Amino acid sequence: MSKDKVDIFDTTLRDGEQVPGCKLDTKQKLVIAERLDTLGVDIIEAGFPISSPGDFKSVDEIAKIVKNATVCGLTRSVKKDIEVAAEALKHAKRPRIHTGIGTSDSHIQFKFNSTREKILERAVEAVKYAKTFVEDIEFYAEDAGRTDNEYLARVCEAVIKAGATVLNIPDTTGYCLPHEYGAKMKYLRENVKGIEKATLSCHCHNDLGLATANSIEGVINGARQIECTINGIGERAGNTSLEEVVMVLRQHPHLNLDTNINSKLLYDTSQMVSQKMGMIVQPNKAIVGSNAFAHSSGIHQDGVIKKRETYEIIDPEDVGVNESSIVLTARSGRAALAYRAKKVGYELTKVQLDSVYEEFLKYADRKKEVLDSDIHEIIASSPVNVESIV
Ligand code: KIV
Ligand code: ZN
Repeated sequence: MSKDKVDIFDTTLRDGEQVPGCKLDTKQKLVIAERLDTLGVDIIEAGFPISSPGDFKSVDEIAKIVKNATVCGLTRSVKKDIEVAAEALKHAKRPRIHTGIGTSDSHIQFKFNSTREKILERAVEAVKYAKTFVEDIEFYAEDAGRTDNEYLARVCEAVIKAGATVLNIPDTTGYCLPHEYGAKMKYLRENVKGIEKATLSCHCHNDLGLATANSIEGVINGARQIECTINGIGERAGNTSLEEVVMVLRQHPHLNLDTNINSKLLYDTSQMVSQKMGMIVQPNKAIVGSNAFAHSSGIHQDGVIKKRETYEIIDPEDVGVNESSIVLTARSGRAALAYRAKKVGYELTKVQLDSVYEEFLKYADRKKEVLDSDIHEIIASSPVNVESIV
C-alpha cells in the first residue's frame, strides 16, 4: 500500500530563531534555508517580515534562492502585516502567507479584550485579504490546544470558506496530552464543513516534553502537515523536533505515513544549525545527540557488538551518523575493551584480555571515559606482553 505523505513545515528560521541568543543574520539564514531545501522540507517558514527590516530582508532573499520548497512568511491578522509579507514573498516560486489570531478564551479576553464573534470576523478578513496576494494561505488558530473545540470548528469552517488552504492547530503552550490533541484533529475532521479542501497542520510546543508525541497523534488522526524545527529549538522548551517526527514515521511503517526528508542529511543539518545558532545539542537528544548511538554499559555493549539491533532501533547510517560507538567507561565489559582494542590495532587473546582488563578498570575508575589514545598506555602497563597487529 502506498504511504500517505505528511508535509514537513520547517520553522527553524521563525519559531526556532525566537530563542534568546540564537539570532541569525541574513547570510546565515540563507545557508540554512538552502540546506532545508536540500533536506527535502516542503515548506520553509522564513520569518515574520513585519517584525524588523532584517527579517523582511531575510524572507525576501530566501524567497529568491529556494528552488523546491514553498516559502512562507508569518503575519498577525493585521492588514499591514499581510501587505509586508506579500511584498517579502513576491520572488518566491511558491509563496505562502501564514496568518492567524488567538482563539482560546484566554487570548480573546486577555490579549485582545475582545469576543469570540469579533475574533472570528478578524480571522475571516485576514484570510480574505491575504488571498488577494497569494493563493496558498495558512491560517493559525493560536492556542488552539486550549480552544473550545466547537468554537475552533466554527473558526476553521469560516476561514476555509474565506480561502484558507491549510489550517494550523497550534498547541502554543504545549499543554495538550497526545490523546487530547489527536481527538481535537479528529473532531475537526468530523465537524468542519469543507475540511477536505484544507490540510490540517500540527504545531506543537514542548513545554511538557510532548511535542513529538502530540504531532504524531495529530497525523494519526488525519493531519497531513507537521510544523517543526531542527533540533527542536524554539520558544521556551522548544518546538516539535523535525528529526524526531521524520524518524518516528520511518521506524513505524505500519502507520502508512512518510515524508520527503532525506534522513541521511539529518545529523549534518543538526550540527550545522547548532553551530550557526551557537546552541549545543544536548548529548542525549534523540536521533542527533552525541550519545544517540553510543553504548557504555557492558551488557549493552556486548549485545551491540554481537548484533547492533539488540540495542538500536535505527541504523545510524540512516540519519548520517557513520557508526554506533562503543564508549569505554568503568561500566564497560571485556567485549567492549577487546572490540575497541582491535580498532586501534591489538588482537587480544583471552589471557591477554583478562590481564589488560584489570589494568583498564583501574584506569577507568580514575577517568570519565577511556579514549583510543589511553588504550595504548593501558596495554603497555599490562604485565602480559601484547603485540600490535598493525
Ligand atoms: O505557537 C504558535 O502558536 C505559533 C503561531 C504564531 C503559529 O507559533
Ligand atoms: Zn509556535
